[in-house]
Amino acid sequence: MILLTGGTGYIGSHTAVKLIEQNEDIIILDNLSNSKAEVIDSIETITGKRPKFYQTDLLDIDGLEQIFKENKIDCVIHFAGLKAVGESVEKPLLYFNNNITGTIKLLMTMQKYNCKKIIFSSSATVYGTTQVMPLTENSPLGVTNPYGRTKLVIEEMLNDLHVADKEFGIVLLRYFNPIGAHKSGLIGENPNGIPNNLMPYICKVAKCELPQLNVFGNDYDTVDGTGVRDYIHVEDLAVGHVLSYNRIKTNNGIYTYNLGTGNGYSVLQVIKAFEKSNDVKINYKIAPRRAGDVATVYASTKKAEEEIGFKAQYGIEEMCRDSWNFAKTTKSYNTK
Ligand SMILES: NC(=O)c1ccc[n+]([C@@H]2O[C@H](COP(=O)([O-])OP(=O)(O)OC[C@H]3O[C@@H](n4cnc5c(N)ncnc54)[C@H](O)[C@@H]3O)[C@@H](O)[C@H]2O)c1
Repeated sequence: MILLTGGTGYIGSHTAVKLIEQNEDIIILDNLSNSKAEVIDSIETITGKRPKFYQTDLLDIDGLEQIFKENKIDCVIHFAGLKAVGESVEKPLLYFNNNITGTIKLLMTMQKYNCKKIIFSSSATVYGTTQVMPLTENSPLGVTNPYGRTKLVIEEMLNDLHVADKEFGIVLLRYFNPIGAHKSGLIGENPNGIPNNLMPYICKVAKCELPQLNVFGNDYDTVDGTGVRDYIHVEDLAVGHVLSYNRIKTNNGIYTYNLGTGNGYSVLQVIKAFEKSNDVKINYKIAPRRAGDVATVYASTKKAEEEIGFKAQYGIEEMCRDSWNFAKTTKSYNTK
């Protein structure tokens, strides 16, 4: 039985579908701070199977205990966490408590119930600022905000845990920029309020819920001056979790993988791809650079390909098409 913390969230829900399709038994835990219980209905509609759901907070150790007592959990895929970089700068303690303390409580409960397999949602944000691309798993680490620090600290904690107990099987997945949605249009990314990330923002402009998109900087040393990032379809990302699970199902050890496509697209290229694949116009304006942004970031995916057979299948136009297919029919939460 696999427990997905944060399993009603964006990446967790897509991974839940993939795991059910692979005939894995799953349980979902989420406190619904950034997702809705209806996601469980959508997972059932897509797969024909309703996963068991616990509305529980990671900080509630009794709630965690109950889940481990009632179910034989073999592996945890740990998505739950707060993820808004800007908010983490304003409220670092909220992030340290939720993400780091929450993970400590989860790991203590796992240890108590002898569950020694975990796949952790890390992020490309753990890499330090560098011009050397692509980023490999050995590129220098360094963080610039409290959110990134929570990811790095948790990676280090998991490394220490593996040193102390070699029976642990651990995968650290460093996601690049997940976008896209399930083809059904039933699950996808639906952030509260004003989105922080490019694709949800584009979708809200396309829905006329926001007047225009700000493109931060057009004087970077890139193909058209705008920032380049490695976007990956959330469906590919979900497959990456299934492959990671296969890796540790029968193996101990700690493994770190980048999950990206290895291709970078500029902001303007993404806007054009969105317009072309969806036949809609995106109103945008060039704004000054944002502090802390770098010109280009993309992954080396060689290690994930060689060790777990991961290779992203979807291109940028499919990512844009599926993002819009979800967003155009989905009710938005209070865009202010
Ligand atoms: N989406 C991205 O761009 C991205 C990139 C890199 C890494 N990540 C990481 O991947 C993970 C999943 O991201 P996502 O995009 O699906 O985010 P999401 O917000 O959609 O999902 C996270 C889920 O965790 C839940 N949650 C948060 N704190 C909790 C707590 N204390 N107890 C129980 N549930 C809690 C939320 O309600 C939400 O449903 C996160 O850890 C995030 O930091 C995301």
